[in-house]
Amino acid sequence: MYQHVLIAFGGASPEHEVSVISAMQAASALKDSGLELLPLYVTKSGRFLTGPQLLELESYKDLKTLEQTALPCAFQTDAMGRTVLTETRKGGLFSKPKSWPVDVVLVAFHGAEGENGAFQGLCEQYNLPYTGSGVMASSVGMDKKAAKIMAVSCGVPVVEGIDFREYEWVAGRDTLLEQLLALDSTVVVKPMQLGSSIGVEVVSGREPLIRAIETGFRYDARLLVEKAVRPLREVNCAVLGNGADAQASVCEQPKGAEELLSFQDKYMGDAGKGMASASRIIPAPISDELTTAIQQASLKLFRELGAAGVARFDFLVNDTSGKFYFNEINTIPGSFSFYLWDKSGVSFPQLMTKLLDIAVARHREKNGRVRSYDTNLLSTKAVKGIKGLKGKG
Ligand SMILES: Nc1ncnc2c1ncn2[C@@H]1O[C@H](COP(=O)(O)OP(=O)(O)O)[C@@H](O)[C@H]1O
Ligand SMILES: [Mg+2]
Repeated sequence: MYQHVLIAFGGASPEHEVSVISAMQAASALKDSGLELLPLYVTKSGRFLTGPQLLELESYKDLKTLEQTALPCAFQTDAMGRTVLTETRKGGLFSKPKSWPVDVVLVAFHGAEGENGAFQGLCEQYNLPYTGSGVMASSVGMDKKAAKIMAVSCGVPVVEGIDFREYEWVAGRDTLLEQLLALDSTVVVKPMQLGSSIGVEVVSGREPLIRAIETGFRYDARLLVEKAVRPLREVNCAVLGNGADAQASVCEQPKGAEELLSFQDKYMGDAGKGMASASRIIPAPISDELTTAIQQASLKLFRELGAAGVARFDFLVNDTSGKFYFNEINTIPGSFSFYLWDKSGVSFPQLMTKLLDIAVARHREKNGRVRSYDTNLLSTKAVKGIKGLKGKG
């Protein structure tokens, strides 16, 4: 099956530290699995590094030293046609650069290129099995508008809102403001593709709205302004599986915004728990009907999206009417939402093994389909008829 697991994490994302924590948790959950774990740490500036110290949480206290001592590396196709991780530092005259086999990639990034399909695309290009969703599901999951359109197409309700680009704001500010103010007396301004509540503001009135929009454009070229759900209760549900073969977890109710805990807090506090130490109520104290409705909606969205591995679906509930609205998808939820699976009969080690099994199964399925043809169409005389080539008519 597979033996060499590359754990990929870090990245140029505001959720860099959270990703380091998720990766260390994954490594710890797999320590008795008998699998060989190899780290791929992407620095905040985008360098690929490897080395055994990268699997120790302690090493991240001093990032400067870490970057100096770890080995720069890259994916490469070896003489056998297999993808390996190779050291890119120039070796001495007689020393060959080290390289490591990779059977499957455990993707533990949060946010940006690690979660939006870009890294997933790199794995596809190198024909490596990788955990979690594919390129399209990852991209749709990252974009709040695309995700809402998909939810609506599945019959899952979303909050009414208006989205616009910076140039539209510059060109038609007054008309746009009128439309936004007409949405509701309190609205929420959000950057289209960020996470961790960065740039998200709940505002009432014209001036605060203008300020929030201007702040929002510092983070993203597209913004979404929504009616504010009040009184608000947030409920999240994770789904685990592969396409149609999926199960929903118990629901959680996060308490307040999921603020980024400082790195110090995570070290000195309940280090091993990561996201699980953020305050939340499990199971969410809501009715059985609402729980079931949210689980069903999450499963539907997971299948429609063609998501894989574990994804978390976040909902906004109007606590007066009991109505719920789909808010956003996390295709790589913090700590892989293990604390929800724990309570749903799947242990953390089982969750990790399941993610890896799904990755390998999906890869095998993909490679089993026809993807290219042995006939070289460029070798035939048809080429002669192509117009617009240099020296041809
Ligand atoms: N329409 C809304 N009404 C009320 N609160 C909202 C609304 N949209 C977002 N929020 C609040 O803002 C937080 C962050 O928004 P979210 O859409 O989840 O963005 P992010 O990707 O940054 O997590 C939510 O967890 C919720 O507390
Ligand atoms: Mg959120």
